Amino acid sequence: MEPLRVGMLGLGTVGGGVARLLSGEGERIARRAGRPIQLTTIVVRDPKRPRAIAPPPGTRLTDDPRAVLDNPELDVVVEVAGGIEPARGWMMAALRNGKDVVTANKALLAEHGADLMAEAGRTGRALAFEASVGGGVPVIHALTVALTANRVDALAAILNGTCNSILTEMTESGRSYRDALALAQAQGFAEADPTLDVDGTDTAHKLAILAWLAFDHRIGPASIPRRGIDTLDELDLRFAAELGYAVKLLAWAERREGTVAPRVAPTLVKRGTPLAEIRGPFNAIRIVGDAVGEVVLTGQGAGASPTASAVVGDLIDVATGRARLTTRFLASPPSAVPSRTASAQVVDAAIQDPRR
Ligand code: HSE
Repeated sequence: MEPLRVGMLGLGTVGGGVARLLSGEGERIARRAGRPIQLTTIVVRDPKRPRAIAPPPGTRLTDDPRAVLDNPELDVVVEVAGGIEPARGWMMAALRNGKDVVTANKALLAEHGADLMAEAGRTGRALAFEASVGGGVPVIHALTVALTANRVDALAAILNGTCNSILTEMTESGRSYRDALALAQAQGFAEADPTLDVDGTDTAHKLAILAWLAFDHRIGPASIPRRGIDTLDELDLRFAAELGYAVKLLAWAERREGTVAPRVAPTLVKRGTPLAEIRGPFNAIRIVGDAVGEVVLTGQGAGASPTASAVVGDLIDVATGRARLTTRFLASPPSAVPSRTASAQVVDAAIQDPRR
């Protein structure tokens, strides 16, 4: 059977996890994919730099993205470099060159997902992005495949492992915000610039993607009302605990009177309910659908191995042809669902917000 030949842009935490999973579990993955998945070329900034993660045998390291994007022997491009540019241009070029694309890039999808999806639709290629939200939690698959019979009415989620780790440490170990942040950074879940985690930007990126899939609602992440956890202190969490609540950085969106109101804010969540009990770097997504009722998905939302699980799952979907079918479904024009006004959203946020 012809292998699926893969080029990868980036070899950081996620890229390293993908390389390890493909080389360590190649046989199982080939059985599931119906053919071997071969990582042949990886683009890195400096191929000569000694690195902790050795590329799999037979894989070529290069600093030239064209060795992947213009390489007629490659079937798929995996983008795990992150950031907006040059990643956007690379992905457009890959699609135009007839390659399927798998990405973990939440910021890029939140800002330019519609353009990229339109290009994938136009070229008939796959654009798969399970790893962009929830790490190893299959929320993209749930919203684009398993739950598509539903009208989603509400969605509440913990989408940032760094923030959830910080809040867990502050609540359970009495650590200061600063110490808890340093610990989360040492564990390797935080963004290179952890401001993006703690000020809610990363959560807003992920919510923009989920709002699109769940509600057909296109909203730029900058238009989502957002507050982070960077202004909380231990007292807030202690008072919340005394009242029987956990404080979580929640992404929230609901359908009401024909509109959708997404927001991100530290929120009081009643202890004993599923989202209140999510600890450490875990993520959780509660989805309410008209047919299914309530579904809660939870698991590791960050880290090399859980995120690689999502990327390699997408590669298997590309190999079997499923990913192109899902892309074709997503590339059809959305029916726009209007946003409520910012002031209405802020009033909503006050209902459960500990700082108001
Ligand atoms: N910085 C992110 C987090 C990584 O902490 O959840 C996963 O997207």
